[in-house]
Amino acid sequence: MLKKRIVGNWKMNGLKSDLAYIIEISQQAAAHPKADVAICVPATLIESAAKASDIMAIGAQDCHASHSGAHTGCVSAAMVAECGAKYVIVGHSERRTDQGESNADVKAKAQAVIAQQMCAILCVGESEDHRNSGNAVAIVIEQLNLSLPDIDNLENSLCVAYEPIWAIGTGRIPSLEEVAEMHMAIRQALVVKYGDSGNDIHILYGGSMNGDNAADLLNIAHVDGGLVGGASLSAAKFTPVIEAANNA
Ligand code: PGA
Repeated sequence: MLKKRIVGNWKMNGLKSDLAYIIEISQQAAAHPKADVAICVPATLIESAAKASDIMAIGAQDCHASHSGAHTGCVSAAMVAECGAKYVIVGHSERRTDQGESNADVKAKAQAVIAQQMCAILCVGESEDHRNSGNAVAIVIEQLNLSLPDIDNLENSLCVAYEPIWAIGTGRIPSLEEVAEMHMAIRQALVVKYGDSGNDIHILYGGSMNGDNAADLLNIAHVDGGLVGGASLSAAKFTPVIEAANNA
């Protein structure tokens, strides 16, 4: 079984005054060694957060696919790696929607992240209409297949996060059976693409994961961790999720 991995996604939250909280969470990570814990912070905090936390990995929430060039306002994978990022989220639904990122864009970003020896956290997920249509699995697997990087050596370079768009920030989650069905389908797609090493890729669940539902979600087959937004913003809410992963 893969070691459970809990990744906080701070989104556009966090100032230097919140670094004390990074230290608090990294102490929780040290106290729960059966779980891997990371936090993806805004680009402005990566370097200081990485310096503040030697136990817990720090990640970025996006990067450009190009190494450098005329892309005003963007940061490259090399830039966030230099600041100490170990993970980069790519293809989060908020970016797919707000910035119009396509599957091809997401694939190129994932490849750029991996080329810098970081781990790409590749997000996929269906809308509520797609869930209600009964086609969620087919839609998510198509999105996944079009977004997966072409790489040979996978070692710790890729995670997939299944995040139903309608579950993000809403307090609603799919049924445990729906999560199990989706994660199994994602596992099968990863093995088709990468062979046996597809079994070593962490598949995270994301979308309103919290201290109340984490234990149930993390005990589902092929749920190898969580991508946690709102509940990662306070130690009181994030610690129970870390505990659930440590005990799963
Ligand atoms: P949430 O966000 O936990 O607040 O639903 C998850 C995410 O968007 O990664």
